[in-house]
Amino acid sequence: MGLTRVPGLLFGGDYNPEQWPETVWDEDVRLMAEAGVNIVTVAVFSWSRLEPAPGVHDFGWLDRILDLLHAHGIAADLATATATPPPWLVRAHPDVQPVDAAGTRLEFGSRQGYCPSSPVFRDGSVRLARAMAERYRNHPALAMWHIGNEYGDHTVECFCEESARHFRRWLEDRYGTLDGLNSAWGTSCWGQHYTAWTQISPPRKAPGPVNPAQVLDWRRFSSDALLACFEAERAVLKDVTPDVPVTTNFMSLLHHLDYWKWADAEDFVSDDAYPDPADPAAHVKAALSYDLMRSLKRQPWLLLESAPGAVSWREVNVPKEQGVMRLHSLQALAHGSDGVMFFQWRQARYGPEKFHSAMLPHGGTDTRQWRETLALGADVRRLAEVAGTTTRAEVALVMDWDSWWGLEAPESLPSNRLRLHALLMSWYAPLHARGIDVDLAPPGRDLSSYKVVIVPNLYLCTAEQAANLASFTGRLVVGPFSGVVDAADQVHDGGAPGPLRPLLGVRSEEPWPIPDGRTQELVAHDGTRLVARTWSEWLEVDDAQVLARYRGGPLDGRPAVTRRGAATYLSCVPDDLTPVLDEVLGDAGITAPVLPEGVEACRRGDFLFLLNHGAAEATVPLPAAGTDLLTGRRLHGSVALAPRDAVVLKYRVS
Ligand code: GAL
Repeated sequence: MGLTRVPGLLFGGDYNPEQWPETVWDEDVRLMAEAGVNIVTVAVFSWSRLEPAPGVHDFGWLDRILDLLHAHGIAADLATATATPPPWLVRAHPDVQPVDAAGTRLEFGSRQGYCPSSPVFRDGSVRLARAMAERYRNHPALAMWHIGNEYGDHTVECFCEESARHFRRWLEDRYGTLDGLNSAWGTSCWGQHYTAWTQISPPRKAPGPVNPAQVLDWRRFSSDALLACFEAERAVLKDVTPDVPVTTNFMSLLHHLDYWKWADAEDFVSDDAYPDPADPAAHVKAALSYDLMRSLKRQPWLLLESAPGAVSWREVNVPKEQGVMRLHSLQALAHGSDGVMFFQWRQARYGPEKFHSAMLPHGGTDTRQWRETLALGADVRRLAEVAGTTTRAEVALVMDWDSWWGLEAPESLPSNRLRLHALLMSWYAPLHARGIDVDLAPPGRDLSSYKVVIVPNLYLCTAEQAANLASFTGRLVVGPFSGVVDAADQVHDGGAPGPLRPLLGVRSEEPWPIPDGRTQELVAHDGTRLVARTWSEWLEVDDAQVLARYRGGPLDGRPAVTRRGAATYLSCVPDDLTPVLDEVLGDAGITAPVLPEGVEACRRGDFLFLLNHGAAEATVPLPAAGTDLLTGRRLHGSVALAPRDAVVLKYRVS
């Protein structure tokens, strides 16, 4: 069973017919059918066209395009059209527009200009969502709902008075009493003791650093405020069209929204991914975020947007070289996507995105881009049986948004160089190089299906989360600066690693950040020398074996890496984690040699995806004989992969 009622894998993109005269639409649908497009996203930014005046609807053009799409066998990912409130609404209610931390109200003229707490925005968007649902509930093209667009993209938070009121209500729900809030926020520090809820504001621009507990709650609140907008629309859609799946397009590994929480509110996860073609490590970063998408609900997800070639929002927008659109699309499928979709179908002639690539470029059908679109459509059809299959990873990386927000709070930490994305990548990249399938997991999830669990960092760690990690019976690795604070960002009694201390058998007495440009050497018990940057710790051992010690510098001779039972603790991040990984994977019985440079291997159901992101031909051994779905070739032994080529091996018929 696929994500929607459309069989096989989804293939298509954002389609903005309102930007074109209707005379172009016939050509659009004809070319879509030629390319094998089976779904398009419509009406994402159409509020001002669908409701040109308060309560006055103009659905005629949308009726016509939906009918036309359906007549050509193309389904609709129908947006609720609420991503940009229309000018009439903003002019009648200027306080719909968001306010930044310095108090400036942002102007109309871009998109997503709304305060998430604005009752006017919420009422208006819910009313439009209901009107859309009632009008199109029985339309045969309707395959899924797309609420809003990329929540947290331009508007992450709003600092206006309405948001302040909403924040206070949120805080009252969380803490019940002002005493509770004062104690959680540690307001005895710097004279911030509150005596009335009305004294509390968002963390607006202040003379100096703002209370980090206030900032942490603000991050939670801001994620929840946007989620409430999504949920309000979802509720009306579920009321009118209970059987139509609902999603909103995520933005990969996004700092601002707690996607563990958001994913619970969706029927399936979808993602927009824009790996930078100029970045040689882009495919590894993309793989990490795709694995997150797959892990959010532990189900197939949907690549709802990607770029056929160049984007238009980087400083320098490098196109995708020949074959890269296909390779990157196959990569998303390899990591669990049940489709490949793009921004956008037809390249725009005006507006900020007129130079953004599209499936059908300015140059029309006699172009390299169009030929690649056609070829990809054919490949996607060849892979139809991959839809719905899942991945059984044996390794999980634990990550959590509360902890991420705490770790990257401004101006209150021993160093601001410990960044979660880099920490995740330091583990993910070597696992990826060995073709090991990796899930991501929140710290409270049942981890029993994994053989290895790695916690690159868990700065904020509650007693419950620590108990969950302690109940894991496989091989566990915990990275530096973990177990430092509780849910209120207050340091655990006795310091780090707080509730993880019995499990790890160590005490991290003092953080010892390494200045930029300097390194700290460490030596393992077998003589292996490693180099760490950024971070180290003065570690005391209660009850653990020392696997490596610092050599030289202020921590000379002190423990750096320890092990207690099946749990390893690293008080730093060595540049090369291979020796640690070798030991951990070996203990867990996972054997996976490093693949040729640039080659990626992923499993989904009975399919092995092999992708060559490298610049040279690579020969890859196969685990079993099988058939390449892309070419129909029978393969055994090994396969030679040209640069940017791929194989999807069906190697075990269940
Ligand atoms: C996304 C957005 C799309 C389009 C695209 C361009 O962030 O959802 O509407 O702007 O970027 O890359």
